[in-house]
Formats: sequence, structure tokens, C-alpha cells
Amino acid sequence: MSAGHQHTGERHDAAPTEDLVGIGFGPANLALAIAIEEHNAQCGPGRALRSVFTERQPEFGWHRGMLLAGATMQVSFLKDLATMRDPGSRFTFLRYLHERGRLADFINQKSFFPSRVEFHDYLRWCAGTVEQRVRYSRETYAVRPVRTDGRVDTLEVHTRPAGGGTPEDGTDETILRARNVIIGTGLRPRLPEGVATGPHIWHSRDLLFRSQEARAAARPHRRFVVLGAGQSAAETAEYLHREFPEAEICAVFTRYGYSPADDSPFANRIFDPSAVDDFYEAPDEVKQSLMDNHANTNYSVVDGELIDQLYRTVYQEKVAGTERLRILRTTELAGIEEIPDGVRVVVRSLTSGERHPLDCDAIVMATGYRSQDPRELLGPLADECLTDDRGRLRIGRDHRVATTERVGAGIYVQGAAAEHTHGITSSLLSTLAVRSGEICDALLLGLAGQDLLSGRADRAGGTVDTADGVAVPAP
Ligand code: FDA
Repeated sequence: MSAGHQHTGERHDAAPTEDLVGIGFGPANLALAIAIEEHNAQCGPGRALRSVFTERQPEFGWHRGMLLAGATMQVSFLKDLATMRDPGSRFTFLRYLHERGRLADFINQKSFFPSRVEFHDYLRWCAGTVEQRVRYSRETYAVRPVRTDGRVDTLEVHTRPAGGGTPEDGTDETILRARNVIIGTGLRPRLPEGVATGPHIWHSRDLLFRSQEARAAARPHRRFVVLGAGQSAAETAEYLHREFPEAEICAVFTRYGYSPADDSPFANRIFDPSAVDDFYEAPDEVKQSLMDNHANTNYSVVDGELIDQLYRTVYQEKVAGTERLRILRTTELAGIEEIPDGVRVVVRSLTSGERHPLDCDAIVMATGYRSQDPRELLGPLADECLTDDRGRLRIGRDHRVATTERVGAGIYVQGAAAEHTHGITSSLLSTLAVRSGEICDALLLGLAGQDLLSGRADRAGGTVDTADGVAVPAP
């Protein structure tokens, strides 16, 4: 479809209206695509959901810059995209292992925690089965209402090639129409105030790519600084120490030491699907205390084994008199300045107040991620969304954003942007299987309520409509 539509008045073009357009195709919306796929494969005539997803990456990728050799998942393989909703699903991690011919080998490892590289391969395997529904290399930059007599029952999702541009400068815009949208755009890298990434200032998100470039530069690397005390920071310090055997690694953080993630069984219940109900129903002050009390299951904490490994390294280097992994505790970043072939990082001790310059090849900001407010994409539609007394989106238990009565179209949000309503699992993988089933059910209910599912000929004789409107055999 071409650009330049009016966003008001009735639309008469031929673009099909999808039941759902998903924005972002990370694990969260992938899990939903699978739930929809499974629903479509077994539903009765006229009950299939038509969905399309947009993703700015050229192909499926899950934190590719942190697929470090040896890094393992922080979640049991049983919390894959399907098992907790339906252990008999064809999208389980066990089914994946069986298809890859590694089921027995995996079992012999006696571990619940696959490597991150393997889990990424599992996610890609899942994504491959719904590929026809995904528009890769397309960035969604706006969701606009289509108003008919003041009501909004259809939304337009505006996409462009990843990398930006506008229709005015000739960029190829595509507009998808939908009864419902779901925003699952994940997290954005967080950087210290006033700091931007560059050739010598990296975010941990890009660690593998930037360090490969650094290695290709074929000059000796003397020093790296890693800022942060969470899992990514500890992994980055360990990785750089291993991959650059000539370099000194300075781990800088304001804590006194790395703190272990609480993965004990009672605390781990905070990641159960039922914990989402408990959190959702709790008063605001209880929500806050749950987040405070259990932040150490996820935020600014490190896997215990990795802490032990790093400590052993520090100690052994002390014994050998070659201290290459240096822990600069209770220390903050006080300044960064470019120098030839690197950066001068100034750090300040919080105890003595002393400042020290550290000239290094690169500083890695392992400073975490921040949530993106979905309203950034919604433009004028944001005014139709209801908020709580702190100005945050009101999001239903089914992940649908509460709107004025003028809006009949569904705006759903999942991921970190729903943490204030749905709790600590929102940004994680733990409840994706169950959550995606809940959202799929909510979509069906909403469409049935508007009588939009009846009279469809979208599934007959063992065929299912694809996003392109092409009938393919049902799986
Ligand atoms: P995610 O960020 O993964 O995906 C969002 C997608 O949307 C991306 O593919 C992005 O390109 C796309 N996108 C964004 N804006 C767009 C736009 N405007 N248009 C089109 N596309 C757009 N959790 C856990 O439970 N167990 C674990 O072991 C780990 N491990 C882990 C390791 C590392 C290194 C990190 C950084 C994080 C984890 N996590 C984790 C947490 C992590 O948030 C979680 O695993 C998922 O990535 C969350 O999936 P989402 O789909 O919500 O976001």
C-alpha cells in the first residue's frame, strides 16, 4: 500500500484488515504467534486468527550480541514458549531437541539450563514455522487510528525499512491495517547520563560484534573497562578476560561486590504464572514491596557460579602476581574523554573521593536496559488511552490497554512496559507460554464480541490462510 492516507473517514482501499498486527518479534510476540498458530490448527471453521508481525531485524535474533560461548539460560528449559501452556505442544524445547537429534545427549547433561546459544537456536526453530507471518527488516514507527464517525475500530500500523527515513524522503512505507495491535518491542539499552556509544564506548548489547571488530584491528589491547555489577557486566568481564589474554580488565561498580541472584525455590515462585494474578490484584504498595523484596531475583545480580569463577580468577592472579582482572568496587564513573585509539575513563572512589584516569581501548557500558513507553508509537491514540494516578498506562489482566469508549480496536502491550501492572516476569521468558495463550483467548473473545469472527471462510478443507492471504495446508 502506498503512503499518504488520511487517518480520518472511512477507508475504501483493498488492504486486508488483520485481526492482529504485532509490533516487534522477540520471544514475547513469537510466543504469541505460536499460540495463534496452534489455535488456528485446531479451531473450527471461521475461528482462525489472521495475524502479521513486524520486526526491525533482518531475521529472528535474540540478544545476538550477548550469545557468549559458555553463557547459560537463567530459566529452566521447561519455561520454553509452549510447555507451561500445553506440554503436548509441537513447539516445546523437548520437541526441538528431538528434531535436532539431541534429546538423549541433552538429558545426559543433567541440567535444566541450556546454553544461550542453544536456546537461541530453539527460538529460531520456532520462528521458522511462522515465518510467513513476519515482515522482517521493517520498523514500525507509528500506529494511527482510522476514525469512522468518531469511532476507532481499525488501526493503521506504519512501517518503514529498518534504519529510518520518512515517506517524504522517498522511503518505502508500508501500512498494515488491524483490528488489534500488540506492542512487544522489548527493552532499550540504558546508558549513563550524557554518554553515547561510539567506536570505543560500547553497550554490552553489542559486545560480540564490537569485540570482533576490536580483534580484527590487530593491535595489542591493553585495557578494557566494564561498568556495572549485574549479570551482563559479570559476563562481559569474564568474556573480555578470556578473549583478550594480553589485556587488563577493570570492573567498575558502585557496589562492594557482585551479589548473587536469588534463585531459591520459594523466591522463584515470583516467576510462576499464578504470581501474575497475585501481583495484578495487589494494591499499589504491595506491588512496590514485591518488586523491592524480589528485585534480587533479576536486577543487578549475578549467577552464583559466575561470581565464584571470577573470584577464583582474581585470587589466582594475585597468587601469581599478574593481576589482570581488577575489581574497582565502590567506584563510580566520573568522566569519559576520547584519546587516540581509545578513551580516557575517569573513575572516582566513593569511599575516598579520589579520582583515577584509566586509559583503555574501550569501555563497555553493562548498565542495563530501560523500558520503552508504548505511547511513543501511538501518537494521537495515546490521548485515548487511560492512565493511573501516576500517569502510567492502565493495562487489563489480559494485557489490553484501557481506552476511552471511542476506541473499539484493541491495543495490547506485553513485555517490560507492563511490569507495573503484571510484575517482574513481564520482561522475562518465564510466563510467555501461558501469557500468550491468555492474549490469544482475549483476542478471540474481543473479535467474537464484535461479531467479527462469524461468516469467515478462512479455514476450510484443511487449509489455513497465511498473512499473505494464500491458503496453505493446515499443519
Ligand atoms: P525483546 O527485546 O527480546 O524483543 C523485542 C523485539 O522487538 C526485538 O527483536 C526488536 O528488534 C523489535 N523491535 C523493537 N522496536 C521495534 C519497532 N519499532 N518495529 C519493529 N520491531 C521492533 N530472560 C529470561 O527469562 N531468562 C534468561 O535467561 C534471559 N537471558 C537474557 C540474556 C540477555 C543477554 C538479556 C539482555 C536479557 C535476557 N533475558 C532473559 C531478558 C529478556 O528481556 C527476555 O529474554 C526477552 O528478550 C524478552 O522478550 P521480548 O520479546 O519482550 O523483548
